[in-house]
Amino acid sequence: MHAATQGLTATDRAFAVAIVSETLRWMVDLDALIDGATAQILPDDVKSRAALRIALAQLLVLKSPGHAVVSTALPLVDGGPRRLVHAILSRAQQEEWQLPGRATLPLPTAERWAEQWSLSMVEAAEAAWSAPPPIDLSFAAEPGAEEWPDAVSLAPRHRRLPRGQAVETMPGYREGGWWVQDLAASIPARLLGAGEGRTVLDLCAAPGGKTMQLAAAGWNVVAVDSSAKRLERLRANMERTGLTADIVQGDIRSWAPADRADAVLLDAPCSATGIFRRHPDVLHRIEPRQIAEMAELQTELLSRAARWVKPGGTLIYATCSLEQAEGEDQVSTFLDHHAGWIIDPARAEELPEAVVADDQGLIRTLPAMLADQGGLDGFFVARLRAPSD
Ligand SMILES: C[S@@+](CC[C@H](N)C(=O)[O-])C[C@H]1O[C@@H](n2cnc3c(N)ncnc32)[C@H](O)[C@@H]1O
Repeated sequence: MHAATQGLTATDRAFAVAIVSETLRWMVDLDALIDGATAQILPDDVKSRAALRIALAQLLVLKSPGHAVVSTALPLVDGGPRRLVHAILSRAQQEEWQLPGRATLPLPTAERWAEQWSLSMVEAAEAAWSAPPPIDLSFAAEPGAEEWPDAVSLAPRHRRLPRGQAVETMPGYREGGWWVQDLAASIPARLLGAGEGRTVLDLCAAPGGKTMQLAAAGWNVVAVDSSAKRLERLRANMERTGLTADIVQGDIRSWAPADRADAVLLDAPCSATGIFRRHPDVLHRIEPRQIAEMAELQTELLSRAARWVKPGGTLIYATCSLEQAEGEDQVSTFLDHHAGWIIDPARAEELPEAVVADDQGLIRTLPAMLADQGGLDGFFVARLRAPSD
């Protein structure tokens, strides 16, 4: 997407991103409308279906003017079925086609989540998927009560704003007292509390949301990530916020620290199915095979991370996934293979309002949580305690 929108003005870029996002979000329902209007089902990968999807997303979701939509859609099928595309777009306008109240999840995802969680979780996920989420900000220090008068605070050092604002134009962006971070994504670092000069290894750290939280909370942070490109973003984030960390490029399957740390936070690479609200492509792409591959990698990374925690120290394991294989199952496999480790249950006062730990003290955020206040990404977070030796 980044490459595809290079050279566009900020407004055009925002419009292009909105078209693609809404097309992906509503694709199952857009396809149902397209299939209901053609005598023969169009193959999934033909240009005419792609052109119809993006044109209908503009008409039905973004409410763009019909003439503009038609005149930009037809050139996309030049030399192809222009008449078919034109006819369907005309019908959509004459018959005032509507999308359903909630965007339907792709069937494999809906089936997988119904089996793992429940049908009501699938319904909540569809409701959450139907619109882009609000903007959550994390602050290095609690802002004054008079600042951000239109924002809602759901946790210390957190403010939630309605979606649709350009982040760079918000007050204090340059000063760097805050950064954008979903409320659920802020939970792993919250569970480490104040650092008081102790050392934390922030593994898989880029682009640095949790690094900034930890540095702001007084931790001495060593931030490790394998991606040079993502580390550039981490560096830029640290510069903007004036926070500091030791930044290391390394693959934690082979890299190892010189010393063990008081705490380790592993924000493991995952399927990212929990961030489907802001990345609607995820649910169209992720298949069971990738979830299984990620789960295997997570088991390896968690086991390595555990070696680097001082006796009696803390290990936080987190993923932005709604798959049990990448969350609950990882913790039970870990505990089966690491004698003496225990779950250190998250306490209510450490968590945002409405997020409750399960009966083992593990955190699982699901789409129904805080739904009436804009919802949360799907995250799994466990706090584990090393044996004291
Ligand atoms: C979920 S993202 C981390 C988000 C980050 N913790 C934050 O709060 O902004 C996962 C990161 O893991 C990194 N990664 C994946 N495999 C890795 C490995 N084997 N060693 C180190 N980093 C890895 C990726 O480059 C990616 O930046």
